Amino acid sequence: MKISVFGMGYVGTVTAACLADQRHEVVGVDVNPNKVALINAGQTPVIEPTIGDLIRDAVRDGRLRATTNSAEAVAATELSLVCVGTPSMKSGQLDLSGVEKASQEMGEALAKKSGFHTVAIRSTILPGTVDALVIPNVEAKSGKKAGKDFAVCYNPEFMREGTAVADFYAPPFTIIGAHDPQQAQPVAGLYSFLDRPLIHTEVRVAEMLKYICNCYHALKIAFANEVGTLARAVGVDSHALMQIFCMDEKLNISRAYLEPGFAFGGSCLPKDLRAITYKAKELDLKLPVFEAVLPSNQVHVQRGLEMILGTGKKKIGVLGLSFKSDTDDLRESPMIELVKALLGEGCQVKIYDAKVELSAIVGANRQFVEQTIPHIGKLLQSSLEAVVADSEVIVVSRDAREFKQLRDLLRPDHVVVQLGRSRTLDGSPAKQIGICW
Ligand SMILES: NC(=O)c1ccc[n+]([C@@H]2O[C@H](COP(=O)([O-])OP(=O)(O)OC[C@H]3O[C@@H](n4cnc5c(N)ncnc54)[C@H](O)[C@@H]3O)[C@@H](O)[C@H]2O)c1
Repeated sequence: MKISVFGMGYVGTVTAACLADQRHEVVGVDVNPNKVALINAGQTPVIEPTIGDLIRDAVRDGRLRATTNSAEAVAATELSLVCVGTPSMKSGQLDLSGVEKASQEMGEALAKKSGFHTVAIRSTILPGTVDALVIPNVEAKSGKKAGKDFAVCYNPEFMREGTAVADFYAPPFTIIGAHDPQQAQPVAGLYSFLDRPLIHTEVRVAEMLKYICNCYHALKIAFANEVGTLARAVGVDSHALMQIFCMDEKLNISRAYLEPGFAFGGSCLPKDLRAITYKAKELDLKLPVFEAVLPSNQVHVQRGLEMILGTGKKKIGVLGLSFKSDTDDLRESPMIELVKALLGEGCQVKIYDAKVELSAIVGANRQFVEQTIPHIGKLLQSSLEAVVADSEVIVVSRDAREFKQLRDLLRPDHVVVQLGRSRTLDGSPAKQIGICW
């Protein structure tokens, strides 16, 4: 293909050199004439292992050249990859001026070009930027229509500096966000040589994915460093510790716990977080990541409460009281906190939980209900039908598959607040709201 790459920084230079290495005809574009001159002289403007050789060979063989003239580059190519910088402003806000300028130049170039053109944004941009900034700018300057005369996709970059060329040939996956998957085909074709998953998704999902990957990587580093700080202070070898930690691919290094839903609770996670943060304070250690977890969980309970109160209705049916499915353990269940808060707000609450039916539970849990939360114990009902029939809002605390008949019991005047996501209620006449989806 004939490809123009906007922005000859780390991402753009590596992308341009590697695509030229794949025998595409590549034109690099940058506002900085020094970078353009370097490339045209067969030299690299960035330092990365093997990039110098790739650029030298590609320029020598006429597969790569660079220019400051974006219109000429767009006219000479069928696909443009935008890899311009998106730095932070002093306030932390994203500086999109490079993307804005590149989109305008793209529009001006397309005004003079006949034939379809595909644009793939590779710079890291917040969700909504393609729709709110890139497409309007290209349309305004070109007088053409996105989807008809040109296509804009979002194709995030996952390379790491220092291993950028190797990462280009072995990314974790390739993501292409497009409004019309058909129009993502030219971009998908660029990666056909890779033996890695290629995922087509919505533009906003692709835009946000890049951010959550980086935020998660940052969180992992901060977590590991706080683990190390605490381990050192209590005489534990942090590397031996983390090596074993990473061997658990069931719960630690896995998909477990990564599905947005309701707050955590139960007899272990809150207690253990409190114990470890208390110990850190005793040792005069600052562990802001550990310390932020319980407050974050608390905010999430409050979010659920506000969502229910926001319906403006007072008769609330709560399905599921224990802290997760298939247990009767009520200790530190965030659902109990939620019910207490609803009662405090003057709501009439009825609760159904097959595992926590008062007549069925025994031992410590029965004692807990009778002694610690007797007022909540009294709200437990043995019939799902009765709770649903008497309520205006149904709060489903977890996967609705547990409440098999629910879908058939819902009326058009019901509002369902889902704290755990399930598709089983799709098609029911009730209005549905998800806590974080
Ligand atoms: N560096 C990384 O490891 C990495 C990895 C993945 C994603 N990203 C993202 O990719 C984007 C680029 O990052 P980078 O590190 O390559 O940036 P960089 O600062 O190294 O390079 C950006 C280049 O864009 C050029 N530029 C700015 N506006 C331009 C315009 N209108 N037209 C043409 N050129 C223009 C600049 O002159 C510069 O050469 C950023 O959004 C970044 O967040 C970076």
